[in-house]
Amino acid sequence: MKRDPILQINDLKISFQSGKRFLPAVDGISFELREGEILGIVGESGSGKSVTSLATMGLIPSPPGRIDNGEIIFGGRDLTTISEKEYRAIRGNQISMIFQEPMTSLNPLFTIGNQLIEAIRLHTKLSKAEAKARSMELLKLVGIPRAEGILAEYPHQLSGGMRQRVMIAMAMACNPRVLIADEPTTALDVTIQAQILALMKDLNQKTNTSIILITHDLGVVAEICERVIVMYAGQVVEQGDVRTILKNPQHPYTQGLLKSVPDLREKKERLYSIPGTVPTPGSVTQGCRFAARCSEAFTTCLEQSPDLYTMEKDGHEVRCFLHTVKEGRNGHVGVTS
Ligand SMILES: Nc1ncnc2c1ncn2[C@@H]1O[C@H](COP(=O)(O)OP(=O)(O)O)[C@@H](O)[C@H]1O
Ligand code: SF4
Ligand SMILES: [Mg+2]
Repeated sequence: MKRDPILQINDLKISFQSGKRFLPAVDGISFELREGEILGIVGESGSGKSVTSLATMGLIPSPPGRIDNGEIIFGGRDLTTISEKEYRAIRGNQISMIFQEPMTSLNPLFTIGNQLIEAIRLHTKLSKAEAKARSMELLKLVGIPRAEGILAEYPHQLSGGMRQRVMIAMAMACNPRVLIADEPTTALDVTIQAQILALMKDLNQKTNTSIILITHDLGVVAEICERVIVMYAGQVVEQGDVRTILKNPQHPYTQGLLKSVPDLREKKERLYSIPGTVPTPGSVTQGCRFAARCSEAFTTCLEQSPDLYTMEKDGHEVRCFLHTVKEGRNGHVGVTS
């Protein structure tokens, strides 16, 4: 059953000024988030994942940032065209976001209760007492047992996992329709990471909030997402159902990411990592953006840039010439490692 989209991003382009030039950090991204689903966005650092989510929240710093093109459709409106005042009614209410490092979003000088109650009162008309009751309810929702005690504590008194739970509680304060979680478990150790992922899945099921989960780890996507978008150098390079893509990854980049997921059953000495790094915005002016790191690259890859191609077999999409150029593949130029 295909559910309706709650959020649609169409051909979004965002650049940042560097000297006199504007360099594209997000370069023509399109995707949709469907009602009640958990969508994964995966890619190495510098792919444009955070810029995409900040744009959805209306938080691109300008200058140096600029939205050059595209639409962000939510609730029948294009959010790239609304005023800051209108955005304030959406941000934190209907769309909220949690970040990688909760310490930077919590104020160290105020108690958890103070901050949670303030956040609730900012977005609702609840009295202080009602907001406190709602805070307790939210802390229970995110699996914090001794809510009353936590309300009186300061952020530094909590463990990393507890702080992240508090941040999730804050983000859920107004029953948002969309929750964007930007690397919410990256700073946490593996056991706590698993607990936070389970919590997000649980919230998704209990509240039907649609979630965008951003991560550099395909293993995290495999845990809780239904669909996934793989981003590379500001573009979507592969997208589709998680099960299809994990079983049948078609882009050499996705294949590399999959090889770098730690397998708990096999204790490998050193984990595979894709050679090289993501090119900086604007630095690849010709050819496929992944070519310099791709073991499969052939001459065409250095000359032209591939479009997204829909796989006939399962409908998932991939941006790679291996699937469009069937014959006459010219000289192999791929990196060997
Ligand atoms: N505030 C900023 N100023 C200038 N450039 C930025 C800024 N934020 C992001 N960028 C550029 O956008 C690219 C993508 O960033 P980001 O979306 O944070 O990547 P990811 O979240 O995938 O690691 C960065 O490599 C950087 O070049
Ligand atoms: S288009 Fe060429 S360089 Fe790019 S990923 Fe495919 S094979 Fe590799
Ligand atoms: Mg990021």
